[in-house]
Amino acid sequence: MSQKIGRTPMACVVTFGCQQNEADSELIRSMLADMGFEFVPKPENADLVIFNTCAIREHAEMRAFGNMGQSSHVKTANNSAIICVCGCMAQQAHVEQRVKKSFPYVDILFGTHALWRFPSLLYKKLTVGKRVFDTAGEGVIIEGVEPLRKEPPNAWLSIMYGCNNFCSYCIVPYVRGRERSRDPEVILSEFKKLVDAGYKDITLLGQNVNSYGNDLDNGIDFSELLRRINDIPGDFRVRFMTSHPKDATKKLFDTMAECDKVCKAIHLPVQCGSDRVLDMMNRRYTSAHYLELIDYARSKMPELTITSDIIVGFPGEDEQDFEKTLELVEKVRYDSLFTFIYSRRQGTKAAVMPDPETAEDKQRRFDKLLALQNQISREKNELYMDRVCKVLIDGFSEDESYTYKGRTEGFKLVHINGRPDLVGTWQNVKINRTSTWALFGEVVE
Ligand code: SAH
Ligand code: SF4
Ligand code: F3S
Repeated sequence: MSQKIGRTPMACVVTFGCQQNEADSELIRSMLADMGFEFVPKPENADLVIFNTCAIREHAEMRAFGNMGQSSHVKTANNSAIICVCGCMAQQAHVEQRVKKSFPYVDILFGTHALWRFPSLLYKKLTVGKRVFDTAGEGVIIEGVEPLRKEPPNAWLSIMYGCNNFCSYCIVPYVRGRERSRDPEVILSEFKKLVDAGYKDITLLGQNVNSYGNDLDNGIDFSELLRRINDIPGDFRVRFMTSHPKDATKKLFDTMAECDKVCKAIHLPVQCGSDRVLDMMNRRYTSAHYLELIDYARSKMPELTITSDIIVGFPGEDEQDFEKTLELVEKVRYDSLFTFIYSRRQGTKAAVMPDPETAEDKQRRFDKLLALQNQISREKNELYMDRVCKVLIDGFSEDESYTYKGRTEGFKLVHINGRPDLVGTWQNVKINRTSTWALFGEVVE
């Protein structure tokens, strides 16, 4: 492209969705950098724009379509700019059709399985000139492309791709394909490189990390992988997401408790407190089993931070079911919760289930759950008052009264005052204020 425009070409990668998509964008940036691109933060200043999209809820899709729509301005400003759409939304046939028909200025569309073909798709567009669409393939693992990550101290590391669970509401298995685990040796060597490069808080990524290794025949399951990572020398801590309660075993919690570099923090999405709804969701555990897991985990790690996802308004969920969710939340007392109102996803099992409850009723339940959790989060954070926490400072605070921000081992956000040049360092921070969302404090020696 540089030959065509006579200067260094500029790219902008806009990412929607979860950490998996963020990790994919790091791969895309790496491929772009290899092709000679540099990066700009705004699409309107770029010669090539990539929208890496998410399909998890309708709202995510609307945002992506909105951004794609606005990208027509990029073409007005720069006629030769190239617009690409990729990610989970792009993997769906109905989205491909809609982009073909209604978004003529999108030059390249590629699905999650075609990610590694991006350089050849771009070459095709530049040489042949026609629009390029590629949503083919499945079951690939991309190796050999080193992600272009953000500066230390935080990094993501994908250990597996795809999902086999087919929770009845969820689009992920349809757009990400079946579970496939990366080779443990490749993961360990990438992890060591990250530690050597100064990364100190590394998150292992997968839709269901607890089934890591099920598709490999080497006897290394997720607990074993964690142990091997824990044995890597260096100044780091490791966390992981996401864990599915049906596969989270006592062995996993024992391993977490025994490994000093594994954060005592777990994101264990429960989705709902009613067994009837859990069954319709195809989650394959009961609320009693879930509570048993939590009790066991806490007995091994009294300091464990626990977070979760909950969907309100699943088709057929009634007031009694919802009350059971509230009961479960009161029993567990999560550190924080991600709450969602059910969103119908075309092609999933739940999309054709009768859904008699009104949007107003669902919203009312959602608000009630949020209010309960906010109170619990506030009370849980208050327990940190006057305590000294080990915090990894990872950047500057957006709160004007504080200099830095960082995270505790339990991934609690801390706003901090302290002397200059602390980004990327561990500090002992004395907490002197707390809120529903964060802790606040001063560095102490
Ligand atoms: N693999 C992870 C997370 C997947 S998506 C897991 O199994 O937990 C993150 C969260 O989005 C899910 O946990 C769920 O709470 C929510 N979600 C997924 N599909 C949804 C839908 N159709 N409507 C509303 N929320 C949804
Ligand atoms: Fe979706 Fe369920 Fe897979 Fe998570 S485990 S990605 S919610 S199908
Ligand atoms: Fe969205 Fe795909 Fe992640 S649908 S939540 S970006 S796996």
